[in-house]
Amino acid sequence: MTPNEINTIANLHRMAFGPSEGEEIAPLAKALLSHPETISISVHRGGKIAGNVLFTPFVFQDHPDAKCFLLAPCGVLPEYQGQGVGKELMQTSIAHLASVGTDAVFVLGVPTFYPRYGFVPTEKQTPYPTLLTIPESWMVLELTAGIVDRLDGKTRAIPQFMQPQWWDTSQYD
Ligand SMILES: CC(C)(COP(=O)(O)OP(=O)(O)OC[C@H]1O[C@@H](n2cnc3c(N)ncnc32)[C@H](O)[C@@H]1OP(=O)(O)O)[C@@H](O)C(=O)NCCC(=O)NCCS
Repeated sequence: MTPNEINTIANLHRMAFGPSEGEEIAPLAKALLSHPETISISVHRGGKIAGNVLFTPFVFQDHPDAKCFLLAPCGVLPEYQGQGVGKELMQTSIAHLASVGTDAVFVLGVPTFYPRYGFVPTEKQTPYPTLLTIPESWMVLELTAGIVDRLDGKTRAIPQFMQPQWWDTSQYD
């Protein structure tokens, strides 16, 4: 991915998440895009990127062979919100992740959006379990039948995500 494309996607998330949150999410998106295993899926409208979602490896320390990803961030430019871009992003990316042998996808997000695409609340640990004050916001999509029941214990995201601020839901309480 070129520096230009990286900037375009970071700016998209800055706009999607709005003035305060966007300023934190944009540099995060940039950092995630520098990780070699990040999967980036975009949806285009009128020749430009209207929405983007990033997936980064997510590891259960006692189950290193399980192929899991963390979904974040997912954003649609304000002028394209409410027109099916988010739905297309989710459907396209889930199909892609399934095609590359992903076992499960985890997300810390809006409990009213992700369940539309098969995500369900999970009791598996986030990397900072004590900071999860809204349990229903931590969700999983199982792509390999039966895998989630077999996963337990401590989890780890990529280094760019291993900061308490990304796992503390008390700001949304
Ligand atoms: C959330 C977001 C990605 C959805 O994208 P979108 O293009 O607006 O969504 P769509 O138009 O494809 O809508 C898909 C469905 O989700 C619903 N939906 C959209 N935004 C929603 C939200 N914030 N919460 C709950 N449901 C939502 C729509 O009503 C629609 O339902 P339907 O299929 O029954 O009609 C987008 O609004 C966005 O970028 N928001 C700001 C950033 C953000 O909050 N990201 C998610 C953080 S976890």
